[in-house]
Amino acid sequence: MVLEDSVILITGATGTLGRAVVQASSATNARLVLTARQSDSLETLAAELDLSPERTRLIPADLTDHAAVDALIVEIAQQWDGADILLNTTGGWAGGDRLADLSPDSWDAMLALNLRTAFLICRAVLPHMLERGWGRIVNVASRAAPEPAARQAAYNVAKAGVVALTESIAQDYRRKGITANAILPSIIDGPSNRSSMPDADHSRWVKPEDIASMMLYLCSDAAASINGASIPMYGGV
Ligand SMILES: NC(=O)c1ccc[n+]([C@@H]2O[C@H](COP(=O)([O-])OP(=O)(O)OC[C@H]3O[C@@H](n4cnc5c(N)ncnc54)[C@H](OP(=O)(O)O)[C@@H]3O)[C@@H](O)[C@H]2O)c1
Repeated sequence: MVLEDSVILITGATGTLGRAVVQASSATNARLVLTARQSDSLETLAAELDLSPERTRLIPADLTDHAAVDALIVEIAQQWDGADILLNTTGGWAGGDRLADLSPDSWDAMLALNLRTAFLICRAVLPHMLERGWGRIVNVASRAAPEPAARQAAYNVAKAGVVALTESIAQDYRRKGITANAILPSIIDGPSNRSSMPDADHSRWVKPEDIASMMLYLCSDAAASINGASIPMYGGV
């Protein structure tokens, strides 16, 4: 894959999926910017994966915070011009309540973590991509977007919003050399899902490495005509 010299911004870099995305991206010879809130976890990740300090930047930021997102983008611009590729894995699940029992605070928190973060970071990377006339955005939504599940209305809505946001970007910039696509994972095989569902058949769950490969494929020249897609990655579930 020819991503050499591109700058890839990976959000949620320390998560189950983020880590696999970082690992796969580090094999492309691109320059990497890794972000999450906890700087300790970013440093541990970079050490564990033995990432090149010359080709890697670790920039902690809370992506629900508009000012923090702007500061992150300014720092990338100062270091390396800007991000050519956004691999956005930030997000998380909360559920358990039916709608009448769902508190407004829980609703706001789910939309902030999954949808506001996607809006802010996509919005922030676009000016550099427009200047360059080339850019790739891959967001991570969920199977819950096309197939909403019970007792997780806020998550369902937030991920449907991520799909709509991605399609909107694809439409807005379709003649500008920029593509935006979304991945719809089902249950991702990782330590936290394994510990909360110990008796499930883990072999059926989608592997984070497979999602990472698809995200990078969507950044390749071969995928230049794929724009506004939502790709189901359900494994055997
Ligand atoms: N796991 C699944 O089964 C599953 C299924 C379908 C879809 N998904 C989606 O796939 C994506 C990755 O899931 P995952 O399981 O890999 O998540 P994860 O392990 O919980 O990792 C989440 C990542 O996001 C960062 N993060 C959390 N809140 C943040 C904030 N406010 N600002 C900036 N960074 C923040 C976390 O680091 P810090 O805590 O240091 O900030 C971490 O790096 C998410 O969008 C998730 O909704 C997951």
